[in-house]
Amino acid sequence: MAVRVVVGTQWGDEGKGKYIDMLAEQSDIIVRFSGGNNAGHTIVANGEKYALHLIPSGILHTNKTCIIGNGVVIDPAVLLKEMKGLNERGVTTDHLLISDRAHLIMPYHIGLDELQENFRGNNSIGTTKRGIGPCYADKIERSGIRMCDLIDKDEFIKKVKSNLELKNLIIERVYGGKAYQAEAIIEEYLGYAEKLKKYVTDTTSLLADAIDNGKNILFEGAQANFLDIDFGTYPYVTSSNPIAGGVCTGSGLGPIYINEVYGVLKAYTSRVGAGPFPTEQNNEIGDTIRELGWEYGTTTGRPRRCGWLDTVMIKYAAKINGLTALAINHVDTIGKLKEIKLCVGYKYKGQVIRYFPASLNELAKCEPIYEEFEPWNEDISGVKSFDGLPANAKKYLNRIEELVGVKIGLIGVGKDREHVIVR
Ligand code: GTP
Repeated sequence: MAVRVVVGTQWGDEGKGKYIDMLAEQSDIIVRFSGGNNAGHTIVANGEKYALHLIPSGILHTNKTCIIGNGVVIDPAVLLKEMKGLNERGVTTDHLLISDRAHLIMPYHIGLDELQENFRGNNSIGTTKRGIGPCYADKIERSGIRMCDLIDKDEFIKKVKSNLELKNLIIERVYGGKAYQAEAIIEEYLGYAEKLKKYVTDTTSLLADAIDNGKNILFEGAQANFLDIDFGTYPYVTSSNPIAGGVCTGSGLGPIYINEVYGVLKAYTSRVGAGPFPTEQNNEIGDTIRELGWEYGTTTGRPRRCGWLDTVMIKYAAKINGLTALAINHVDTIGKLKEIKLCVGYKYKGQVIRYFPASLNELAKCEPIYEEFEPWNEDISGVKSFDGLPANAKKYLNRIEELVGVKIGLIGVGKDREHVIVR
């Protein structure tokens, strides 16, 4: 039995997708445990591309069970659209299950997300405005509506009406927005309930049985350590726990059952949106990394901020997630630069520190301490073993392992799915 988790160790976009695909093939059950339709990745199968935001990547394998866990927040319109898209291309979604404890994104969550972001103006967090933060806020505030409520008509109507009393007050009086009509929401959502009810179940008991029956389970992480609500660069974070600990709260699985945790990183760092980024290269080096690694947002096309790999961050993520292996991408990309730098610590107020500060003001004042490495200007996409890599690449990777204290198990050496070294 293997219970595996794949998480991002930086600010997301590390290329988790290809490892999730790879490990999904070896799993019986694939589970999403956090986030909403602000995440997801593209999977490639039989030469076709599928963009998934809520549905776990195992969906293309009809003999596997795919679970959307209780830690995920679900916009039913988005989920149904994604299911329809798959069905139209001949992919069944009959092996999908949705936790009855997962929370629903309601139209007023989306409306509030937009109103709040606009209100913050220059201090906006840069949310995707898809209602994810307000939905998690309601979950914590105990006014959320869950999947089990959606399929219980009377309870759903009661909750929508009662929630709207306060939401509409806030929307109208605080933000000057337009009130929502309960009837319209109820009609729309009961339509979704009809289509989704056959998928809604107690997925936690199913996972418990799977553990008892020795099944292989994969928990596919979305987002990353530094976007975590507790351990990320708060407040420039997401509203959930995408770290490995989120597997337990987001699916109902006890921590002792997890045997492998893969931490995905890039051989450099990228970040989208605002917030301090100690190793950022807001210069020609950053531009070169962006062009060589094609660091542009998948949906927005927005250029990503780029900089050197920061092992203070990865070491911190290694402990938080209990990483058992690293999966490092873009080893081909970084090898093309004229020089390579690796951040091995920070200097703060003249002192060397090796922890990742909670305070963003402190983080912004941290000066990275670098070690320099020679590049390996050659095509390594065909290399199939660690030993087959150029000496300079091995030196760089060995030093990362040494600093982080976790073995590198998977190495991305090119842009295609087969360009991976399994060590
Ligand atoms: P996450 O946000 O982490 O889930 O990323 P994703 O699922 O969008 O990443 P995916 O694995 O699909 O990778 C995104 C793109 O990055 C791929 O289509 C590749 O073009 C590129 N890529 C990933 N790994 C490598 C690598 O090792 N080398 C190079 N050159 N490109 C890579």
